[in-house]
Amino acid sequence: ALRRAANIHWQHLDVDKAARARSMGQTPRCLWFTGLSGAGKSTIANLLDKRLHAMGLHTTILDGDNVRHGLNKDLGFTAEDRVENIRRVAEVAKLMVDAGLIVLVSFISPFRAERRLARDLFEPGEFIEVFVDTPLAVAEQRDVKGLYAKARAGQIKNFTGIDSPYEVPENPEIRLLADRTDAAAMAESIMAHLQATPEGL
Ligand code: PPS
Repeated sequence: ALRRAANIHWQHLDVDKAARARSMGQTPRCLWFTGLSGAGKSTIANLLDKRLHAMGLHTTILDGDNVRHGLNKDLGFTAEDRVENIRRVAEVAKLMVDAGLIVLVSFISPFRAERRLARDLFEPGEFIEVFVDTPLAVAEQRDVKGLYAKARAGQIKNFTGIDSPYEVPENPEIRLLADRTDAAAMAESIMAHLQATPEGL
């Protein structure tokens, strides 16, 4: 269980997010990719990152497989650990957005409640949920890492979509039909969404 810190006061800092964003010439945001293992989250986030970077924008990617090697290497795949995984990642994403960055977050993030908690850390319009909607049958058929086969064989427990739930987003800002759309086209459609927001890109 998490212990709450006592006797801690919020420290006011003079250089705020708006000042940092101005000097970087961009609108800080959190693009939150969610979807099954093998849905294509990382591929699309990587392509989008390249597009934004090529425009001279300041971005970064937080990716499940990578963050679980470091910051979250103490966490596994029980529901409790996934909740903590997402909580930490959301807090890190917020720190990065406060630093002025455009942050691409790519985690299965299977639970609605935790995606909601993540969203609630941000200001209106800052959090953009991108549902990478690949049906289980397609992700399992691809099985790029061979994990679905292992999960079906009982060699991996608590595998998302097999014996651990994935709660489909009800109101994502962006839904990508990732089983029938080219990855580059999906990255472009996210670019178009960003350009169409009041703040623009
Ligand atoms: S979560 O649910 O958001 O905490 O998961 P995440 O941190 O994104 O990690 C998902 C990647 O870990 C690998 N992996 C598993 N996924 C789901 N369930 C189980 N049990 C599991 N064990 C290992 C898997 O490669 C996921 O990578 P992606 O990129 O999503 O395919």
